[in-house]
Amino acid sequence: MEKTHELFKSFDLYSEVVQQNYMRHKELIAITKERLSQKGIQDGATLIDLGCGNAHFSKEAYPAEICLHYKGIDLSENAIYSAKNMLHDRSNWDVALVCDDMLHFLENSQEKVQFISSGFCLHHLSTPQKKAVFSALKKRLLAGGTFFLYDVAMEERDNKPIFNKRQLNWYRKAWHSISNEQMAAISEHILKEDFPEKVSTYKNWAKAFGFSQIKQLYRDPNSLYVFLEFVA
Ligand SMILES: C[S@@+](CC[C@H](N)C(=O)[O-])C[C@H]1O[C@@H](n2cnc3c(N)ncnc32)[C@H](O)[C@@H]1O
Repeated sequence: MEKTHELFKSFDLYSEVVQQNYMRHKELIAITKERLSQKGIQDGATLIDLGCGNAHFSKEAYPAEICLHYKGIDLSENAIYSAKNMLHDRSNWDVALVCDDMLHFLENSQEKVQFISSGFCLHHLSTPQKKAVFSALKKRLLAGGTFFLYDVAMEERDNKPIFNKRQLNWYRKAWHSISNEQMAAISEHILKEDFPEKVSTYKNWAKAFGFSQIKQLYRDPNSLYVFLEFVA
């Protein structure tokens, strides 16, 4: 049975948002490419993509020419199906797609990997669940391995209602290709199913669980999204 949020049962609306670059995927992909090149990603590297969706982001961000062990995890069967289609031409990649809850997956796996990424997904979990994800993923990274996190994130002065209002005001003003009906669905999703954190909360968890380096790679001009890098 399909277990994911209503909004992601079909990727059509989210794909339109990505296509229009409303959530800054182009910038986030460009930064990931740059960081991977600086880190010298090589054949045999493993990436665990938590909440992979249709895998568009990873397909664009990670090099096609290397032998990448790609493991996409998503709660939604539809996402897994879309990711399989998306990655069918990544012939050098060893692709495994798993329909599972990210925390359940991390806590029940033993392998240690070089890269873990999570994009626009962690905010769907409660605060204790997110904290548990940080603890679990530190254990799944090799020494020197990297966790890339890009997601919505509150400013220090925000609380959840203020952040939601800032977010929705901007979307209504700037997301021109989204119909009123679609915006109503997005609004309902944000109000009911989003649990954003502050950047300082993520940094505190990372310190508490022993990550050695924490970098902020990007903040969009409206202070809605953040891209953080954590090194184990
Ligand atoms: C907004 S999409 C993000 C897709 C992609 N990562 C990106 O960067 O655009 C969020 C995805 O997270 C998945 N998701 C939500 N909660 C999850 C959980 N607890 N475990 C695994 N996947 C989850 C949803 O099914 C959806 O496919």
